[in-house]
Amino acid sequence: MRDSLVIEGGHRVEGTVKVSGAKNASLVIIAASILAHGRTELENVPRIKDVEVLLDILANQGCLTEWTDEGTLAIEVPDSITPESPYELSKKLRASNLLLGSLLGRKREARISMPGGCDIGSRPMDLHLKGLQALGATVSLEHGYIEATAGRLQGGRVYLDFPSVGATENIMMLASVTPGTTIIDNAAKEPEIVDLANFLSAMGARIRGAGTDLIKIEGASKLKAVRYAVIPDRIEAGTYMAAATVTGGDIMIENVIPTHLLPIKAKLEETGARITQINGGIRVQGTGRIRAVDIKTLPYPGFPTDMQSQMLAILTIAEGTSVIVENVFDNRFQVVDELKRMGAKIKVEGHTAVVEGVKHLHGARVKATDLRAGAALILAALAARGQTVIENAYYIFRGYEDIERKLTGIGVKLIN
Ligand code: UD1
Repeated sequence: MRDSLVIEGGHRVEGTVKVSGAKNASLVIIAASILAHGRTELENVPRIKDVEVLLDILANQGCLTEWTDEGTLAIEVPDSITPESPYELSKKLRASNLLLGSLLGRKREARISMPGGCDIGSRPMDLHLKGLQALGATVSLEHGYIEATAGRLQGGRVYLDFPSVGATENIMMLASVTPGTTIIDNAAKEPEIVDLANFLSAMGARIRGAGTDLIKIEGASKLKAVRYAVIPDRIEAGTYMAAATVTGGDIMIENVIPTHLLPIKAKLEETGARITQINGGIRVQGTGRIRAVDIKTLPYPGFPTDMQSQMLAILTIAEGTSVIVENVFDNRFQVVDELKRMGAKIKVEGHTAVVEGVKHLHGARVKATDLRAGAALILAALAARGQTVIENAYYIFRGYEDIERKLTGIGVKLIN
């Protein structure tokens, strides 16, 4: 796999692109498959680096994983599974923390190295641990590992100080095999939470309220393995929507759930893009002019933090000044220094970026600092005059399936 992407800018994107299964839904559903007895089969899982790392962790625990010929992922969990995620693997993937709830549920013990992944600010685990403890788990931090055991579990009530996606998911997984009723107050409402709830329900758990801020789970004594299709990736879709907007292009995006895209659609329309729903897909037409807009990231259904960097990239060439406030993560403006190398005018103060639109960006040598920063640099490169070399492209391959093929398919000039 290459470690840089070279893009010749200044061309409109045109054509059709098909969105893959959602990275974040796939990761948590793979983690949740540990709870099942039998062979789980998952359709629509993207073959991206983050998924491969999680499957390596499962294989290390003794699980059998395989991709079938038609691209379905099969997972079987032996009774003798080792309930551990070691440092060498956990450090590569923040989402390894999602094994805490599922391993604890399956084996009544879990030992997870404090997770790594994209560096987008401090990402504590306090809410995850608070939730597991409320259900009866004992948790300690030893030598960089979270160690959790559960002699006797019992459903409980957990209030999340912030609607953390990962904490909500870990609690849902453990609660699904915990006797009694668990209630999560101020739960995350992201579509990936609803997808996890649908998967756990298909396996035999009883879950109500997923997608609202109060989720109620009645645990089952045993969950059965099922076949399940993961939802499409709303952030991947949003990134291609942004590509059409920033280049004044015209593309059809297939395999989307339009309601999941509403916050992104609303903001892109404010910039001037024309977006229409056609037969289960959406068409995005850029007009060649981009208006400045203000954005605040928020938990769903607010504007997603995972699309913030991409919007920042578009707004560098808007007419006027935009203000972007990042409310979910610290340290999510690292892409700014790279965009400045391409001629962008951006000032950052704390959680706010002020973007003064310029007429043109110019190609430069830049580096991805995290997955979405990498996506933002691709968008900037598409709009820029000349060639852009994006280093550390492995960040991009962690989350975007087949991105080189998909970009080429809509007319992007990638240089070998
Ligand atoms: C998930 C997504 C990530 C997305 C994020 C927010 C996956 C694999 N990743 O990450 O792509 O950007 O949701 O939509 O699904 N927090 C605490 N204590 C905790 C947990 C979180 O303070 O115990 C804080 C975090 O520091 C952060 C905020 O809550 O500031 C949101 O984090 P969270 O929703 O947990 O994000 P992740 O689940 O890590």
